[in-house]
Amino acid sequence: MKTLLLPADENGVARGAALIREGKLVGFPTETVYGLGADALNARAVLDIFAAKGRPADNPLIVHIADMREMEPLCHVSDMARKLADTFWPGPLTMILPKKEKVPDAVTAGLDSVAIRMPGHPAARALIAKSGCPIAAPSGNRSGRPSPTLAAHMLEDMNGIIPLILDGGPCAVGVESTVVSLTGDVATVLRPGGITPQMIAAVLGECQVADSVMRPLKEGEAAPSPGMKHKHYAPKARMTLYEGQPDAVAARIRAEYDALPDGEKALILAADAHKGLYGTRSLADLGADEWAAAHNIFAVLRQADADGVTRVLSESYPESGVGLAVMNRMARAAGFDIVQV
Ligand code: TXA
Ligand code: MG
Repeated sequence: MKTLLLPADENGVARGAALIREGKLVGFPTETVYGLGADALNARAVLDIFAAKGRPADNPLIVHIADMREMEPLCHVSDMARKLADTFWPGPLTMILPKKEKVPDAVTAGLDSVAIRMPGHPAARALIAKSGCPIAAPSGNRSGRPSPTLAAHMLEDMNGIIPLILDGGPCAVGVESTVVSLTGDVATVLRPGGITPQMIAAVLGECQVADSVMRPLKEGEAAPSPGMKHKHYAPKARMTLYEGQPDAVAARIRAEYDALPDGEKALILAADAHKGLYGTRSLADLGADEWAAAHNIFAVLRQADADGVTRVLSESYPESGVGLAVMNRMARAAGFDIVQV
């Protein structure tokens, strides 16, 4: 199959919508990462998403909507959900709610809840509206690879596998949406993202963070969100995160870097302000702050793979605000190899 790359303009969106209606898969931009979409109500099309990604069948998908009226037929909408939707939609927030029968089991991997999000990217919403159906879409990477934040990333992973990718340029946020479960009494963040737990608590009065957000699951422990138990966001290189005061972290990273044997190709990930601490060593700049790091992290990990990097030594971020989302992705990329300096 030839994969067409078209600008995410009116013409591109019309082509995409026609394919979605035919039960085909379409890559499209959102404000978080690129998604791999199909008609959420077409179980066969949804199964094709799993095949295209090489995704484990027990990892459910997010259903994307363009209008609040599309929500009622899909799930039971609580007061909490309405408040969060009023405040944060369209935007990088996914809500887990009790599902209704209309949602195929293929979407929810057999769970009795469904993940719903109204994306902020205008091309994503136009695609959903023109398709005339909710769109099920995971991130557009092959399973286990970093999420795509450029159309070119998606083409790397999906070339020859899907008919169309819509190019909307770089994704603004750069990490996937916040996933918040509203199936219990208290809202619980299962995956941190651009909408922080503090922002949710400001609306609902309370918001928990699942403690597995910043640690690996224990042997036999049930995952609150199935996505958490799978290897994720992984570069090919071995990656280690260093936590501590910037000067001490830099000294440790320099020492590790300089001690690597010949044949290892190392890359340091550092904040813009710390670049000077690493001299002429090979370095990728994560940017000015944690928002920039969120925007850059997946592109940096993909570039490391493309450059044949074998060892990544990375600075850390405070686990507050969007820093929690950055650290959640980096900790997984590092297989939780985190060193306190
Ligand atoms: O920003 C995003 O959320 C992107 C764009 C395309 O919208 N999508 C995305 O989808 O990141 P995906 O499939 O890569 O991640 C969805 C996450 C997974 O961790 C999955 O396990 C979780 O949401 N999830 C989906 N349905 C769920 C449910 N019913 N209960 C708990 N977790 C669920
Ligand atoms: Mg994903």
